[in-house]
Amino acid sequence: MDHPPLWYKDAVFYELSIKGFYDGNHDGYGDFVGAIQKLDYLRDLGVDTLWLLPFYQSPWRDDGYDISDYYQVHPTYGSLEDFDRFIQEAHRRDLRVVADLVMNHVSQDHPWFQEARADPQSPKRNWFVWSDTDQKYRGVRVIFVDTERSNWTWDPVAKQYFWHRFYSHQPDLNYDNPEVREEMFRVVQFWMKRGIDGFRCDAVPYLFEREGTSCENLPETHAFFKDLRARVEAEFPGRILLAEANQWPADVKAYFGNEDEFHMAFNFPLMPRIFIAIAREVHHPITDIVMQTLPIPATCAWGIFLRNHDELTLEMVTNEERDFMYHEYAKLPVMRLNLGIRRRLAPLVDDDRRLLELLHGLLFSLPGVPVLYYGDELGMGDNVFLGDRNGVRTPMQWSPDRNAGFSRVDPEMLYLPVITNPNFHYESRNVEAEVRLSSSLLRWIQRILAVRRRYARVFGRGEIEFLPHANPSALIFLRRYEGQTVLCVFNLSRRSVALELSLPQFKEYTPLELRGNTRFPRIGELPYFFTLGEHEWFWFELLPPEPASTSPPPSSVPPSP
Ligand code: NOJ
Repeated sequence: MDHPPLWYKDAVFYELSIKGFYDGNHDGYGDFVGAIQKLDYLRDLGVDTLWLLPFYQSPWRDDGYDISDYYQVHPTYGSLEDFDRFIQEAHRRDLRVVADLVMNHVSQDHPWFQEARADPQSPKRNWFVWSDTDQKYRGVRVIFVDTERSNWTWDPVAKQYFWHRFYSHQPDLNYDNPEVREEMFRVVQFWMKRGIDGFRCDAVPYLFEREGTSCENLPETHAFFKDLRARVEAEFPGRILLAEANQWPADVKAYFGNEDEFHMAFNFPLMPRIFIAIAREVHHPITDIVMQTLPIPATCAWGIFLRNHDELTLEMVTNEERDFMYHEYAKLPVMRLNLGIRRRLAPLVDDDRRLLELLHGLLFSLPGVPVLYYGDELGMGDNVFLGDRNGVRTPMQWSPDRNAGFSRVDPEMLYLPVITNPNFHYESRNVEAEVRLSSSLLRWIQRILAVRRRYARVFGRGEIEFLPHANPSALIFLRRYEGQTVLCVFNLSRRSVALELSLPQFKEYTPLELRGNTRFPRIGELPYFFTLGEHEWFWFELLPPEPASTSPPPSSVPPSP
């Protein structure tokens, strides 16, 4: 598949779990054969790039983020040939594929770790981070605070402690060892040769450890990724690297390097602030953080998202903001996990359609590449009682049939139960039902993505300028790219607002409302006046005045002899 320059900046990503998408061989688990059958759905939805959650061999103690063989597809998902066919079929539909890659750690079941722990002389011993005490790197934060007490775990076989930033069954690899670094390059090569268009690199801040530091974002880690980027660029030009670095703005921006590290990084600081802004009905949490996360180098892009397969993480907010988020969005203690909220998008906002549309309007027009999470386009529900993050990872809902049309097995054989909560029951919330209803969220998202596609350049690559105005509940900004200007106007509150907007530089321009293709009154001398109902929003292209005609009007043309 070709990779035109900056293709990723114009894209809309869709995060897809092979396990959760479609069961092609009737065993209760999704697989590549099943996902191939649903590629037309994704193309028709209007997304361009699929991000696949980890599909490698794994004991699934962390849903595939615990890899036990980097060179194998998990047998439940199919064979390498099935994977190859998936890539071919996706590419045939102009869908690019980005694969998750977990570099920081492996499963304790990985033969590398098994060899390492069994024998101190083993060549694999130094592939992991060992210590005789658990007192090294003190003060480094624990990430999975609900499960782990320390980043060190005693291994009775090795008779030493090993280092892990996540679950204690996920030993960290030792990146000080050049063999480990080379092995990861081989993994990257292996999958890129099979045609993937990029990697979403998991847990990037944590590769190296140094005493007296937070062991996050170290210079050695940046150097490793710069090296990886250079090798990818040399061998696979056009493929991308996307960083999962859940860090504060300055630290995450550093992963773009000097256009020589990651092409993309998720904007973790922005996501919770969108939810804070709509709950408080004020724009400044969004405007402040967007200003802090810009500028970034021209060839780089943020990945922006509302929800994903993890808990809605609240690591990058203040304690006060976190309390506010819990109070607003996690009324029951069971809804919380680690420092976050384990709920899907629609339940988070009480299935409020206007809010769902507002949130997608923001997602599709703030600077960055929008990333949708599978099922959220249906307004899928969740099940917070399933443990860990499983409640947001239930089967995709295709139809009102048994198992939501995801699989033909007996329901008890499903990898997770489908959603039957009355407010979100799969019998009405599914692709088949929503395709039939032109008013459904799915059809609305399809339409809005079609509009956005026409303006992909300005939304994907354009500058942003926030416009000053008097109403704190309104968020107003311009996106501009190569002479095209889109004015975005959002009412973040539950009350109607009236706005006067001063647009002197656009005098005589005509706002064209993008969703209805409707021309609004021309901008004149006076401030432009808007009214916006609760949670209402508009995108306008600002059309410059037609240039005055230079040829004489027809009536003045002298009659021909
Ligand atoms: C981040 C992933 O998104 C999450 O699901 C996983 O548990 C951790 N990294 C550990 O790999």
